[in-house]
Amino acid sequence: MISKVKTIDGFPFVKHSSKTVDGATLVARSKTYYEKLDTRRSVRNFSSKPVPLSVIKNLIRTASTAPSGAHKQPWTFCVVKNKELKKEIRLAAEKEERESYDNRMSEEWLDAIKPLQTNWEKPFLETAPYLIIVFKKSYDLLPDGSKRNNYYVSESVGLACGFLLTAIHQAGLVALTHTPSPMNFLTTLLERPLNEKPFLLIPVGFAHSDAWVPKLKRKPLAEIMVEY
Ligand SMILES: Cc1cc2nc3c(=O)[nH]c(=O)nc-3n(C[C@H](O)[C@H](O)[C@H](O)COP(=O)(O)O)c2cc1C
Repeated sequence: MISKVKTIDGFPFVKHSSKTVDGATLVARSKTYYEKLDTRRSVRNFSSKPVPLSVIKNLIRTASTAPSGAHKQPWTFCVVKNKELKKEIRLAAEKEERESYDNRMSEEWLDAIKPLQTNWEKPFLETAPYLIIVFKKSYDLLPDGSKRNNYYVSESVGLACGFLLTAIHQAGLVALTHTPSPMNFLTTLLERPLNEKPFLLIPVGFAHSDAWVPKLKRKPLAEIMVEY
C-alpha cells in the first residue's frame, strides 16, 4: 500500500487512520493486553542462556517508537554482552549499592524495600546475557560542537523504557529496572559523551529456572483512577 503524503507549510504529512471497531472488540483486546502485562515482573535471578542479538535490536527499535518531546528521541541504548565489561559494571554497581545500603538510604527507604529482600549484591549483572544501559540526552551535540536542546527529556526516556520493558515481556524475556545510584560509573565505563547521563540499567534474558519474585499486590483501579 502506498501511503498518502501531502505537504503542510513545507513539511511532509502522511495520512493516518484507525479502523473503528465495536465496543465489545475493544473491551476484549484491552483486557487481553492488560492480562498479558499483569504477568510482567521484575526478575533478579537470571539464566545465562543466550539470546540472539537480533532480538535485543528489535526490542530497542520498539523502545525507540515511543513519543518524545519535539520528537527529539533523546536516548541512547548501550547493549553490553561482553563478559569482562559486565563484570566491571557489577563490581562498580556493587560498590555504590553497598554504600547506599550501609550509609545512604534512609530507614524509611530500607523499610520500603524490605519486602523485596534485595541487598548490595548484584550477581545478575554478570549472569544476564545482556545489560541494556539507557542514557538520557539533555541536549544533542552537533558535529560542529554546538548544542541543541532536547525537551521533556526524563518523561521521554521514561516512556521509551516503558516501551522497552513491555517489548521484553512480550518477547517472553524478563528484565529488572535497576538504578545502582549514583550511576556516573556507567558514563565512565562505557565512555559516553558529556551530553549523556545514565537513566536505567536493565539486565535482560530468561529467568533462572529457580527464580522467585516477591508476591506483590497492585493497587486496585479504585485507588488509581478518578472519574469525572
Ligand atoms: C525507577 C525504578 C528504579 C528501580 N530500581 C531498582 C533497583 O535498583 N533494584 C531493584 O532490585 N529493583 C528496582 N526497581 C524495581 C522495583 O522494585 C519493582 O518494579 C517493584 O518492586 C514492582 O515489582 P514488579 O516490577 O515485579 O511489578 C526499580 C523500579 C523502578 C521503576
